[in-house]
Amino acid sequence: MSTSYNVTDGVAVITLENPPVNGLGQSTRAGIVDGIAKANADAAVKAVVITGSGKVFCGGADIKEFGSPKAGAEPNLHVVIDTVEKSAKPVVAAIHGVAMGGGLELALGCHYRVVVPGAQIALPEVNIGIVPGAGGTQRLPRVLGVETALQMITTGASVPSEKLAKAPGQKLFDRVIEGDLVPGAIAFAKEFADARPLPSVRDLTVAAPADAEAFTKARAELAKSRRGLEAPQRCVDCVEASVKLDLDAGIKFEREVFEKLVTSDQARALRHAFFGERAASKIPDVPESTPLRKIERLAVIGAGTMGGGITMNFLNAGVPVTLLEMKQEALDRGVATIRKNYEAQVSKGKLAQDKYEQRMSLLTTTLSYDDIAQADMVIEAVFEDFGVKSQVFTKLDAVMKQGAILASNTSTLDVDKIAEVTKRPADVVGLHFFSPANVMRLLEVVRSKHTAKDVMATVMAVAKKIKKVAVVSGVCDGFIGNRMIEQYSRQAGFLLDEGATPQQVDKAVEKWGMAMGPFRMGDLAGNDIGWAIRKRRYTEKPDMRYSATADKLCELGRFGQKTGAGWYDYEAGKREPIPSPVVEEMLAKHRADKGITPRQISDEEIVGRLILALANEGAYILEEGIASRASDIDMVYLTGYGFPVFRGGPMFYADTLGLKTVVETMKKFQQNPLDDAKGWEPAPLLSKLAAEGKSFN
Ligand code: NAI
Repeated sequence: MSTSYNVTDGVAVITLENPPVNGLGQSTRAGIVDGIAKANADAAVKAVVITGSGKVFCGGADIKEFGSPKAGAEPNLHVVIDTVEKSAKPVVAAIHGVAMGGGLELALGCHYRVVVPGAQIALPEVNIGIVPGAGGTQRLPRVLGVETALQMITTGASVPSEKLAKAPGQKLFDRVIEGDLVPGAIAFAKEFADARPLPSVRDLTVAAPADAEAFTKARAELAKSRRGLEAPQRCVDCVEASVKLDLDAGIKFEREVFEKLVTSDQARALRHAFFGERAASKIPDVPESTPLRKIERLAVIGAGTMGGGITMNFLNAGVPVTLLEMKQEALDRGVATIRKNYEAQVSKGKLAQDKYEQRMSLLTTTLSYDDIAQADMVIEAVFEDFGVKSQVFTKLDAVMKQGAILASNTSTLDVDKIAEVTKRPADVVGLHFFSPANVMRLLEVVRSKHTAKDVMATVMAVAKKIKKVAVVSGVCDGFIGNRMIEQYSRQAGFLLDEGATPQQVDKAVEKWGMAMGPFRMGDLAGNDIGWAIRKRRYTEKPDMRYSATADKLCELGRFGQKTGAGWYDYEAGKREPIPSPVVEEMLAKHRADKGITPRQISDEEIVGRLILALANEGAYILEEGIASRASDIDMVYLTGYGFPVFRGGPMFYADTLGLKTVVETMKKFQQNPLDDAKGWEPAPLLSKLAAEGKSFN
């Protein structure tokens, strides 16, 4: 059993022992039930303490059991909580580190709860597409009031124990223990051993919210902030039920909602994202025991858009950075932008003034390579030009201390070739950040054929430290994300040729869940970037078909928001896209020149063509070994491209459609003479999996 049982001074201590977070797996659940029975049968025991071994009380369900029959095996969590609640001897939850999900629900079933400051308290189930399933939505409002509970349950956010303990009228914690937790909890248990009747959350009621519209407002707000997601809405239903129903009826209601959600496509997609993030951090041929290089000092070359954002990531994580530029003006500009970004955070109350100063104190600047020679890692973010980058890497090779990691933030260049500029290619790796680099969670780690395994292991650990989701990509044009987006953009262009408007395409995919449609995205990023890439492609891949509309847009100087006009018009200083008559005219002329009669295109066709174009390119990427798992490709899209998390990513979405259906749909698209029949040829891996009735994930 993953628990231990000891009696001290007439108090039985049940300790959850299931590392790393004392998840409530079957044997842990059985251990609690067993411990309560033992304590009740032993006349020498007056009270019980439940605590967690190691750093936490309990992190909730045991994720190792997810999807296995063990997850629901007896005793289930309801039985455990029922047993605790009905114990004739008082049960005290002694909380430290973390009480989350099922762990918090277990604590709420205890008669008393004591806590140390600094513990994280949460019901995070909403993040995996479900509602808490063991009474959390009914008991938490009873101890914290409906407003706080609603906030915690609908966002899944964790709140520090000391903050909750100070809330007026709270009944979650009976005592805050400043010293050692277990002795403090035992002393508390002895003090209350004979007090009867035993208190129970069951006996509390929930006052209606002060604002009679609170639930309606919460639903409307969540429909915006968690667009398309069902679980947050259902969390509101459950909390509302806690006001209207008695505890048992409320728990029954919660159970029904839980059962419906847990098998839904959304919950499956969110679980996929949850596990996909963990899987991405592991590299199949790099053992977890690989020794890491020490990264205590960083250098960044280039203080432009990306260099500044990259620098901020490290300052935020407490790593000193030296920023190098060619000219003092460029350095001054870069540092001023970093300051401006931090100051905006300070003025919004998101960053304390002293933290801001502390972060800036970690930053030094220089114009000389001598000053960065001792850095443990250097990230280059200079112009996207092989000549410029090879000069920089030649210099780095000459000055950097042995063992330093040399990284490039290139978005399109060949990292193998960059590595070969140096005499230490094994130390070179690509670190492709996404703009704005201090905000976007995705980091593509580009592994060249030369990169050493310990370099890979080290940069994955560094990525974790700066809170990025790192996904490993092999070397190819565009790596994972941008290589796929090219196929998506090509389809968006063909749709314009055939009669769609930019706003129709954008609206269709945004309604489906994308954060931003392809044309709004182009206007934001700058249409000239794609133009430059296409110019290169026209010579490299002359048989690749594109719609000429994007080139024609750029020829009009309409690069996007930065030039005040792109696929849309923009009012000065505003970001609101306004459908443009100029673009409409350009499109009409383009179609007339090509002899195309525009047709009505359904939203379904738009979504199908854009998303399946992603999945098909993803299949090539997978079979070429550029990505090692389908879920890695999904993580790139979920964290870097605004793909709706409740759809699980392009590969997972194709799986939910069924790969046989995907292939059939692509064959249908192939019949369209204005589309690119060659592009709709299913990747061999996709055909194979579809024929075998299998899926990517
Ligand atoms: P940028 O033009 O804003 O900044 C480049 C900076 O590098 C400039 O401040 C310039 O003075 C400096 N620089 C140029 N040559 C130098 C040298 N030899 N030594 C020291 N400093 C030098 O460019 P941005 O957008 O920051 O891009 C930098 C790199 O990041 C490029 O490789 C780009 O492809 C890549 N990237 C850009 C993304 C974006 O969205 N802007 C996204 C991901 C990667």
